[in-house]
Amino acid sequence: MVKIAPSVLSADFAHLKEDIDTIYDGGKSWIHYDVMDGHFVPNISFGYSILSNLRAVTDLFIDVHLMITDPGQYLDEFINAGADLITFHIEAVSSMQEARVLIQRIHDAGCLASISIKPGTDVEAIKPFLDDLDMVLVMSVEPGFGGQSFNPAALDKITELKEIRNGRRYLIEVDGGINANTANLCRGAGADVLVAGSYVFKAENRQEAIDSLK
Ligand code: DX5
Ligand code: ZN
Repeated sequence: MVKIAPSVLSADFAHLKEDIDTIYDGGKSWIHYDVMDGHFVPNISFGYSILSNLRAVTDLFIDVHLMITDPGQYLDEFINAGADLITFHIEAVSSMQEARVLIQRIHDAGCLASISIKPGTDVEAIKPFLDDLDMVLVMSVEPGFGGQSFNPAALDKITELKEIRNGRRYLIEVDGGINANTANLCRGAGADVLVAGSYVFKAENRQEAIDSLK
C-alpha cells in the first residue's frame, strides 16, 4: 500500500496542531515538512524550531525535505529537532564526497536518508548513492511553492528508479501537484510515497482526500 505524506506547507501555521490532528489516520500517514531558505528556492517556509514544536505534539513519522543551500550546515539542528527522515537536494551539494558525508551523518544520528532530484535533474545524478539511500524524492514540480501542476516527466524517473532498484531498500517518493488523478499515475509507475499539500489541506474532508490518493 502506498504511503501518503501530507505537506504541512499547505497547513495553517497558526493552527498546526489542529491541522495535524485532521490528517491523523491511526499513524499510517507521514508528515512532509518542507524547509525553504529563500536561496535554494525563491520562498521561505519554516525552520527547525517549528519542527521541534511539531515533534512535541505528534508521534507521526516526520519526513523533512530540505530545500536549502548547504544542507550540511543545519543538518544537526533538524536531526535534533526530531526528524525521522531527512532529504537533501543533489543540486544543493558541490561534490559526490559531500553527499556521501551527509548520508553518513544522517545515518549516524539514527535517521533515514534521502536525496531529491529537481525536474531538470536525471536519475543518473544519484545512481552512485542508491545503495545507501532509504528513499529517493522525485520532484514533479520546481521546488518552492505548493499548488503547482504535476510535471509528467516525473513518471519516467519513478519507472526508472523502480526498474533499477534490484532489491535495494530505497522507497520512491514523488512530490508536487499530487491529486487523485496524478496519484493514480504515480502509483502505476511504482511510487511508494506520495506527498500532497494543497490537495489534502484544501479539501473539505481531509481523510477522504488522503484515502482517494491510496
Ligand atoms: C514544493 C514542496 C511540496 C509542496 C507540494 O516545493 O516540496 O512538498 O508542498 O504541494 P502541492 O501538493 O500543493 O503541490
Ligand atoms: Zn516537499
